[in-house]
Amino acid sequence: MALWGGRFSSGPDEAFKQFNDSLPFDYQMAEQDIIGSIAWAGALQQVNVLSVQEHTELVAALNELLSEVQQDLSAVASAGYEDIHSYVEAKLIDKVGDLAKKLHTGRSRNDQVATDFRLWSRSTAEQIVEAIQTLKAEFVALAERELGTILPGYTHLQRAQPVLFSHWCMAYVEMLERDESRLSDAITRFNVSPLGSGALAGTAYPIDREALAHNLGFSHASRNSLDAVSDRDFVVELLSCASISMMHLSRFAEDLIFYNSGEAGFIELADNVTSGSSLMPQKKNPDALELIRGKTGRVFGAFSAMMMTLKALPLAYNKDMQEDKEGLFDAMPTWLACIHMAQACIKGIKVNGEATLKAAQGGHANATELADYLVAKGIPFREGHHIVGQLVQHAISKGQNLEDLSLDEFQSVCSVIAEDVYPVLEIDACIAARQALGGTSLPQVEQAIKFAKQQAQSK
Ligand code: ARG
Repeated sequence: MALWGGRFSSGPDEAFKQFNDSLPFDYQMAEQDIIGSIAWAGALQQVNVLSVQEHTELVAALNELLSEVQQDLSAVASAGYEDIHSYVEAKLIDKVGDLAKKLHTGRSRNDQVATDFRLWSRSTAEQIVEAIQTLKAEFVALAERELGTILPGYTHLQRAQPVLFSHWCMAYVEMLERDESRLSDAITRFNVSPLGSGALAGTAYPIDREALAHNLGFSHASRNSLDAVSDRDFVVELLSCASISMMHLSRFAEDLIFYNSGEAGFIELADNVTSGSSLMPQKKNPDALELIRGKTGRVFGAFSAMMMTLKALPLAYNKDMQEDKEGLFDAMPTWLACIHMAQACIKGIKVNGEATLKAAQGGHANATELADYLVAKGIPFREGHHIVGQLVQHAISKGQNLEDLSLDEFQSVCSVIAEDVYPVLEIDACIAARQALGGTSLPQVEQAIKFAKQQAQSK
């Protein structure tokens, strides 16, 4: 039975019912709806809408229902009720009869759904914060494992300057650190209780909304009932956090797909995150990474869909807002799964240090060093840049690296170049020179690792 039959002389037609019902997806908030209802029953008892006895009976039934839905959540989805709130009320009536009909006193599905959805969002977001922390630790562990490995650093996907492989790892730690802090910050902003806002105007019962908020673990009660029932900023914020983080994960995925390619051959992914081809027996495809990259699109889609849905919605609640759930219900677990997969990929990675070194030594990635060398000899940088450009062109024409040129060849382009140029062109020297904060020299990377570990410990 629907929660609102009184003023209707006939029921909804089947197509409309299917169109309107949200139980097939909002069943996922069954636990939250029951927990919110237990707290609401307590508030009703305190204002004497429920006697102590009635309250005890209702709470016992709600707890019973809680363990039932925990045992088989998916059965709730197909129970045929309009939404999760209707489902919980109907099941409560089955258990305690007319007493259950008192529970909705002073409450609306509008403040109820806003509460349930925040509770769901909070516990899901907290899980993701933890997962990000674990992923960061995995990157740090890889950085420590590969401390001596040299990687070509790229701009425009062209070899630019050599970097430590660990420096690359720590770049992702920085991104994940921001993702985590952004998400934690969003949680503090939305951890506010709408319960007791009624349909839109507030509740007519003298409920202690602050105490109710604290009962549910919220930091405080919302301060404006109209806003409380129509605010879905938290959904937008979470989808935005998810989108930014997925963007990072997709860049990580793309880096590794390239490093793993036959052309680069820098890493090998473990068998447990790759799959084969049905036709080509030699293939070992980076599916986990490609799926991370692919799923990024659908998370971005959920973000823009939510923005579109909320645009220009008049206050307060409108049924359009029921469209807030499926996107977040899909995006958050997708984000979580991608974090887990990224971790699995990193865990089993094999880095081919010889290949990365060889690639880093090619591509004239030490050209900047030579320009800096000329600067040290008193040549203005712009002029030095031009001279090195000519030397690179010469080296390319001979199919050689800069360090393979003879002193005569160097001096025929620039007379100030002397024997002391050769140590400068060594790859280790290129890396060691980046001593300033945030650079790729070993002490700086070690510092970054130490900092990340200290931060992780302080959490
Ligand atoms: N299923 C609804 C939703 O998700 C619950 C709130 C319904 N409120 C109402 N006045 N029809 O938004």
